[in-house]
Formats: sequence, structure tokens, C-alpha cells
Amino acid sequence: MSELVRFGVSLEKTLLDRFDVLIRAKQYTNRSEALRDLIRKELVQQEWQSGSDVVGTITLIYDHHKRDVLIRVMDTQHDFQEAIISTQHIHLDHHNCLEIVAARGNAEEVQRLADALRSIKGVRHATLSMSSTGREIG
Ligand code: NI
Repeated sequence: MSELVRFGVSLEKTLLDRFDVLIRAKQYTNRSEALRDLIRKELVQQEWQSGSDVVGTITLIYDHHKRDVLIRVMDTQHDFQEAIISTQHIHLDHHNCLEIVAARGNAEEVQRLADALRSIKGVRHATLSMSSTGREIG
């Protein structure tokens, strides 16, 4: 773990009051923890914008009865097999499937994978959770 450094921050009182309300609502135990998370959030965003090596999870909801949707989801995953590190398929009910795809690689490639899966006809909902390999965020 890196050395801990203390530093002073000057803020307008109204801004700090709002920050304190926010961190209580988010159940942080102190300002330092909240500030660390905010900084990491920015750093992760920067990783995605600069095309770094990133980690992301794509969550899909689709009806497996829809024509060709399973084949298309599978074909797309084979096209991006170098970026996909794991997939999990959950049968939600008679129609709906939940699929979680964990991906790692170049940010643009992971984004392309998410876009390709989202645009498949029959995929009802798709989200990309953008995260980090953890190496660049302290
Ligand atoms: Ni299923």
C-alpha cells in the first residue's frame, strides 16, 4: 500500500455542506473515504477515455425465444473472445435470460463489444459497467 499523505482542502462552506449531505446519504464513514472514491472514479473515467487496458462487465437481458438472438449473442462473443474473460448465463423465467459478460482489454474494444451485444435484435436491455484493472487507481 502506498504512503498515506494528509493535505488541506479549501472549499466554500455551502459546497462542503452539500458534500457532507451526499456522503452521509452514501454511507461513507468520513470525507477521506468519499474523496478517495471520487478521485478513483475520475481516474477510471480517464482510463476509459485514453484507451487504456480496462475491465468492464456487460449485463444483457434477452428473450431466448426471439429468432436468432442466441446465435447472434454467441457469434458476437466468439468474435470478441480475446476480450471476454468470463460469461454467466442465468435463466430468469420461461422467456428471459440474464447474461453477464466480464471483459478485459483495450477500452475501445470493450466498448465495441458492449455496443455489438446491445445492438442485437432481441436484446431488451444492456448495460456496460466501466471499471478498472486496479493498477492505475492507487
Ligand atoms: Ni436462459
